Amino acid sequence: MIKQAIIPLAGLGTRLLPLTSVFAKELLPINGKPGIEYILDECIEAGIKDVIFIISQKKIMIKNYFFNDSFYKKIIKKKKDPRIVKEYKKILKYKKMIKFVYQNKPLGTGDAVLKTKKFIKNKFFLMLLPDDLIIKQNCSKSMIKVHKRFNSSVMASMNVNKKTVSRWGIYKLGKKLDKRNYFIKDVIEKPSIKTAPSNKAVIGRYILPKNIFSKLIKQKPGKGGEIHITDAIQSLIKEKNRFVAHNFSGKYLDCGSMHGYIKSTLEISKL
Ligand code: G1P
Repeated sequence: MIKQAIIPLAGLGTRLLPLTSVFAKELLPINGKPGIEYILDECIEAGIKDVIFIISQKKIMIKNYFFNDSFYKKIIKKKKDPRIVKEYKKILKYKKMIKFVYQNKPLGTGDAVLKTKKFIKNKFFLMLLPDDLIIKQNCSKSMIKVHKRFNSSVMASMNVNKKTVSRWGIYKLGKKLDKRNYFIKDVIEKPSIKTAPSNKAVIGRYILPKNIFSKLIKQKPGKGGEIHITDAIQSLIKEKNRFVAHNFSGKYLDCGSMHGYIKSTLEISKL
């Protein structure tokens, strides 16, 4: 059963400068709602009960967003505005599910995952990268179904333009399971066009096994000097752990870049 999700939120967000010089990118509104709330709604609808936020001291505003009770209580007492009451209730619902852990140095996604080690209870857990919004389908929910069917780890996947492979984790296809699901043979973080095994990219939804922590503890920095979750996954694949690539049917929006962030508001407003 997948009941826990982790969300790395300590990233600096340099692709969204100057906005991120004073603001957490995950709180930036997308069609009037902070990006992180879309991610939380996806989790809730997929049956997740606990969410672990990995933040840094620099991004404490994310915690403040969910823990501003005295402010809401004061305003509600004064104004009695039903809209504000409704919004506060929503915040309270999110708050109940969230725990915070800290990654104060941006050492990479693998390092962020390692910070959650002592909180993970079950054999598998979900990870969502908040820059990656997937609309028109609950990708986490579909992946949980795939996980149950094949009793394996799962990563969301999509085909990308060959010219852009160095932006992604890229994998080599293994056995076909059905129209949307394949076993993964190898996965490489941000390969050059020359060394990329395909144009199939990993997108920010992962169902990971708890034994990934034993790899992460030993994981050496990889591309760009960061500790990558992709490298730990590759070590597990080499030891015959099963990872399925799930080609999701929803629409992918890259909210971590300025162009993608602007586009995401336009796309979501059309829903
Ligand atoms: C991360 C992962 C990469 C994956 C990408 C999806 O990269 O390391 O493997 O393809 O997310 O968005 P980042 O966006 O942090 O550079």
